[in-house]
Amino acid sequence: MSVARQNAASSIDYRRLVESERVHGSLYTDEAVFVDEMDKIYARGWVFLAHYSEIPRPGDFVVRQLGRQSVIVSHDLTGEYRVMFNRCPHRGAAVCQGDAGHRRSLTCPYHGWTFALDGRLMGVPSPGAYEGGQLQPAGLAHIPRVARYGGFIFGSLYADGVSLETHLGKAKVWLDQLLGLSPEGEIQLTAGWMKHRLNCNWKMVVENQVDGYHAQMVHGSLLAANETFATVRDRKDTSPTRVRDFGDGHTDIDHATDYRVAGDKLFRWTGGIPETRLGNYVAAMRQAYGAEEANRRMLEGPPHAMLFPNISLAEMNIMVIQPISPTETVQFTTPVFLKGADELNARTLRRCEGALGPAGFLIADDAEIGELTQIGVNNLAPEWLLLNRGLSSEDVNADGTRVGGLMDETSQRGFWRHYREVMSEGAGA
Ligand code: FES
Ligand SMILES: [Fe+2]
Repeated sequence: MSVARQNAASSIDYRRLVESERVHGSLYTDEAVFVDEMDKIYARGWVFLAHYSEIPRPGDFVVRQLGRQSVIVSHDLTGEYRVMFNRCPHRGAAVCQGDAGHRRSLTCPYHGWTFALDGRLMGVPSPGAYEGGQLQPAGLAHIPRVARYGGFIFGSLYADGVSLETHLGKAKVWLDQLLGLSPEGEIQLTAGWMKHRLNCNWKMVVENQVDGYHAQMVHGSLLAANETFATVRDRKDTSPTRVRDFGDGHTDIDHATDYRVAGDKLFRWTGGIPETRLGNYVAAMRQAYGAEEANRRMLEGPPHAMLFPNISLAEMNIMVIQPISPTETVQFTTPVFLKGADELNARTLRRCEGALGPAGFLIADDAEIGELTQIGVNNLAPEWLLLNRGLSSEDVNADGTRVGGLMDETSQRGFWRHYREVMSEGAGA
């Protein structure tokens, strides 16, 4: 099947609105830009939907947004993973309400048509009225493309386009880095998702996830209250931490550059736990990977990365960013549990409750800044937002990766460079 495409290329000139050193404020406010993004980024591209560990048993399913589409991600009774539009083929009702469930079949709440977890129509009430062959066996419609990497399930609403491998590009190393912190090579996203609805554009959340410049200001009270929270020792432009642009819109804050200097493995990324208190985890890692390799992994820790467009591997939590409108976004966060690391997982859960929960001391600060930024960009002048911090001192590696200092806008420039390319597709050279 294919999903009808939106009309020809929009008339918005993204090459004019995104420059190498600044972006135009209308990109955060314009309804037409948002509609265009939902097609070019959130329908045509690859979007993270769910992780295997959320639907481990046949019969499990979750309901997710793929751009503006509600989709059912299921683990069917044969063990396959499926992604289907949440729309009954009879009269169009959403088949699933709620966020998740476990069933042998899905029943539409309107007239009771029933579907298997792979989308097949299993039965309808009073089928006699369809005699004469009027009832075509119609199941739930599958989205055109589904692909997986390391247990992460992605979807695309277009039947053609680059592969997920190509989309992820160099960002695969971050997924591998995170999985490689588990002695079993797997993560589990089983704690549930915290949801925050923000009155700001989704791109502000993306940019903030890899902004190394704001912590002193926005999280000043936290840093003052809890020094061991600090994953980065030196939040100044003298910090050894690097910020990188891997291309394809994928960017990170490479904390490993700082952790290697600090040398105290585990301590930084676990929020101040010495390795002596994680004996089982350390032993399991050494058993799995050998002492030298295990020590390297435990020293360098998890990635702090933003994968274009909607998933952030934010050390020991994951954030998923869901655009709602030009000025509304929902962010979902969940702790990352490492399979085979129970003692560390218990600590990670407590940390995430403190940092990300409803009374959390970290993410609420960022949410407030997102909303204040939206209020600001709704005003007319100055029209442009700056992107040029650290531009002249940026390095470009042989593989094309751009590297800047912790407080440089290398990550924002990486996002916008790819955004400009994707949003200009079909607009001619
Ligand atoms: S709309 Fe689903 S059974 Fe009628
Ligand atoms: Fe922040």
